[in-house]
Amino acid sequence: MSAPRRNVELKATDPDPERSLEVCRELGASYEGTLVQRDTYFRVPEGRLKLREQSPGDAVLIQYFRADRPEARESRYRVVPVEEAEATRHALADALGTFAVVDKERRLFLWEGVRIHLDTVRGLGSFVELEGVAHEASDLSDEHDRVAQLSEALGIDASRILSDSYSDLIAGNPSEQLIAAAREVQERAYAPYSRFRVGVALRAPDGSVHLGANVENAAYPLGNCAEASAIGALVAAGHTRIVEAAVIGDGEEPCVPCGGCRQRLREFMPLDGTVHLLAEKGARATMTLEELLPRSFGPEYLP
Ligand code: THU
Repeated sequence: MSAPRRNVELKATDPDPERSLEVCRELGASYEGTLVQRDTYFRVPEGRLKLREQSPGDAVLIQYFRADRPEARESRYRVVPVEEAEATRHALADALGTFAVVDKERRLFLWEGVRIHLDTVRGLGSFVELEGVAHEASDLSDEHDRVAQLSEALGIDASRILSDSYSDLIAGNPSEQLIAAAREVQERAYAPYSRFRVGVALRAPDGSVHLGANVENAAYPLGNCAEASAIGALVAAGHTRIVEAAVIGDGEEPCVPCGGCRQRLREFMPLDGTVHLLAEKGARATMTLEELLPRSFGPEYLP
């Protein structure tokens, strides 16, 4: 059995990443590279569990406990190499549910055994993270000291320090919640013929979220698009307005609604309503309905 490892962590917003970069250089921290990372956090009863897919580098499953306190705090964690990242992600998402997906670019520096992360997190902004990795028998006082020294050098004041994980910040953002809901329902698509699974989440004016996935049929033309399913759920719940939509499909490119589904959305959504288009693999685009469907025909044209 592998015992958990420990470190001392501090996370803060970073209003001036270029200045932080300079400080790293002035301190003589060694630059270890820039990583593009995607962390999928699963819903778990205790602590946190995330699958990290990264480039460069191999996928790992990370399980950890950390107090949600602002000051530098101890984290106990395990890192397990994962050979089949995609299959593992689907298995865990199906079994546990996905809590949040965090995409970031991380510039990694090392200084006296402390990892310095200059992170740009999609949808959240720039952050600096310090991780003093502990030796097995350490009482953590050295790690606390070094994290404190670095924190001072980087000019991190108390007002910038965060106690939440990126996943909590993402999960607390309504647009990200909508996207997470679309991602979750995509897992339940019935698409045995095209193997192209689509998930849609629609927000009604009262904040409620309504979901749909594509549902195919052996008699191909009878298949339903995910947008149509989601609109059905929204109407069945008593709504006739959509304020925000998220559409996610398999593949590399953000999934665009088909022409027919743009018109379906047009029936219920204002032209300036926000539509998020996502690829299961991470790419995304956000636009208004009018950008998706210019010069469109709608209910107001009819007498
Ligand atoms: N699909 C949707 O669910 N929504 C769209 O807007 C584009 C296409 C589905 C329909 C079909 O099950 C599969 O994707 C391949 O066309």
